[in-house]
Amino acid sequence: MKTNISHSNKKGKIIKEYNSSSQYYDNRYHDIQLKKYESFIEKKWFQKKIILDAGCGTGLILEQVSKYIKFKALSNCNYVGVDISLNMLKKFQLKLNNLGKALIVNLILADLENLPIRENIADIIFSITVFQNLTDIERGLDNLIRVGKAKFDIIISILKKASELEKFNDLVRMKLEKYSFENNPYLEDIIVWGTAIK
Ligand SMILES: C[S@@+](CC[C@H](N)C(=O)[O-])C[C@H]1O[C@@H](n2cnc3c(N)ncnc32)[C@H](O)[C@@H]1O
Repeated sequence: MKTNISHSNKKGKIIKEYNSSSQYYDNRYHDIQLKKYESFIEKKWFQKKIILDAGCGTGLILEQVSKYIKFKALSNCNYVGVDISLNMLKKFQLKLNNLGKALIVNLILADLENLPIRENIADIIFSITVFQNLTDIERGLDNLIRVGKAKFDIIISILKKASELEKFNDLVRMKLEKYSFENNPYLEDIIVWGTAIK
């Protein structure tokens, strides 16, 4: 019971924090996040059918991708953004008007530890700089794996300063079929590229 209360406190704080920082998130973090994306944003990922951006925030990944991938390629994909902060999603929603109609984007206000998405649908999953916020990182990773297709790609990062970094690394080794860790000294995150076969 005590654990549940502290978990819900942590989640409540995270929601409050991102709801209030949503106004200046892009100004403060745009360049920092872009450096992380540079290592994995490639056209091939966006030719996949269903892309899940878990903890999508203000949609910086999609915004960045749409700058150099033609809409024709992007129009084949269905981009699903999930975030626990309504204000972050509102910022994302505002950007969609500029991204054009060809793109199918669905935004869902939800907790990625309790994803309201059916299993086996995502071709690729991104979750960038989100896992340090979770109350139960194993549950978070299990939820992502559950919604991934029989074979799917996952690119997931966590702040190096996260208290549960070691546990995160162990979970990746245990639950993903193939994985590689990118530890770039100039980035604040560890980035994992993985494939899961279920
Ligand atoms: C540092 S931001 C990263 C946002 C985005 N991935 C990016 O690269 O800019 C962390 C995001 O994770 C979201 N988040 C935190 N905990 C979450 C949870 N349990 N479920 C879904 N989203 C969560 C926050 O609301 C916030 O938008």
